[in-house]
Amino acid sequence: MNLPQPSADALEQSTQMRALLKDRITQAGGWIPFSTYMADALYTPGLGYYSGGARKFGSGGDFITAPELSPLFGEALATQVRQIMELSVPEIIEVGAGTGLLAVDLLCELERQGALPTRYRILELSGELRERQQQTLAAKAPHLAERVSWLDAMPERFSGALVANEVLDVMPVHVLAWRPDGLFERGVSLDAEGNFAWADRPATGRVAEAAARLEIGFPSEGEYVSELNLAGEAWVAEWAQRLEQGAMLLIDYGYPRAEYYLPSRSTGTLLCYYRHHAHPDPFLWPGLNDITAFVDFTSVAEAGFNAGLDVMGYTTQAHLLLNCGVLACLERRAPQESPEYIRGSKALQRLTSPHEMGELFKVIALSRGITQPLLGFMRGDRLHAL
Ligand SMILES: C[S@@+](CC[C@H](N)C(=O)[O-])C[C@H]1O[C@@H](n2cnc3c(N)ncnc32)[C@H](O)[C@@H]1O
Repeated sequence: MNLPQPSADALEQSTQMRALLKDRITQAGGWIPFSTYMADALYTPGLGYYSGGARKFGSGGDFITAPELSPLFGEALATQVRQIMELSVPEIIEVGAGTGLLAVDLLCELERQGALPTRYRILELSGELRERQQQTLAAKAPHLAERVSWLDAMPERFSGALVANEVLDVMPVHVLAWRPDGLFERGVSLDAEGNFAWADRPATGRVAEAAARLEIGFPSEGEYVSELNLAGEAWVAEWAQRLEQGAMLLIDYGYPRAEYYLPSRSTGTLLCYYRHHAHPDPFLWPGLNDITAFVDFTSVAEAGFNAGLDVMGYTTQAHLLLNCGVLACLERRAPQESPEYIRGSKALQRLTSPHEMGELFKVIALSRGITQPLLGFMRGDRLHAL
């Protein structure tokens, strides 16, 4: 792997993160599930990737998300959010708001349409990102900042629109290996030199039960490796139970179950990002890399459905944005041929092209108390694929 070298400060942070993870493994008797490793490496206060000082977003960071790419994403999404608010109550909750740019774009577009929510609440795990979100709002939409507040935990009950972009893919996953001799949970131990090493243990308990439901056959040789996002399912179910009236819009890269667990996808979907390089090694520089897995949208739909929600729509990011009038948003931004228009159309290409984010990214709408079809899913709905 030919990756850029981290700074001395960053390496020092990663050394501390590594020591903490090693302690965790030793105290657990020499083995921890990968999900524990991933949760610590991403969310340990001060040291984890999301909770430490890593730059993360944008061209100087490790990856770029749709709201970072262009305000067109939030401007188009505002159409869907507005409809949900009109069919329930005018409130928004955003979970995992990153740098805060989506909040700015949604609020500014809703203001332009005369459809501002009465409040916009953000639930963010990372203290460092919460501060960045506050700074972004103060700098880019100071007149709207008073509508925005930060939650410390999920509210008891809520109504309105909930938005989460690229949150499910950073939830800690269990890694499983189907081998000729049975089903194993892949975890992390320490080798003779004290380095992190993959180690399998027979899968037990709820992990084994959930894996059995996938009905994946055991190979006669080699192994089939994939992930299970039990934390993501529990998270969807918790929000679902709290939703009184309205809808949740969850956007992420992923597939329906039949595609997620295709026999040919035999090494799983786990991926790490460091300064815009995707690589497969989660043990490299813990705390400095993003660690992600694709989302099984069938399990998301089931978690919502089992908690009493209606699965209102499932489609690609491209269809959602086009259905929500993203082309009109581009036209409105600047005169054709102007540099801003050209920048916008390039971004739009990345957001909607099937070879970039348009097809890989999906959006699912889970709702309660809404019967009207949702605008973002009018054309290109793929509910049948779930
Ligand atoms: C990949 S970033 C996406 C950020 C932003 N939504 C965007 O599109 O640019 C994931 C975000 O989710 C947050 N996060 C992850 N798990 C969370 C959880 N259970 N509750 C709240 N925030 C969470 C992370 O701290 C981070 O802000």
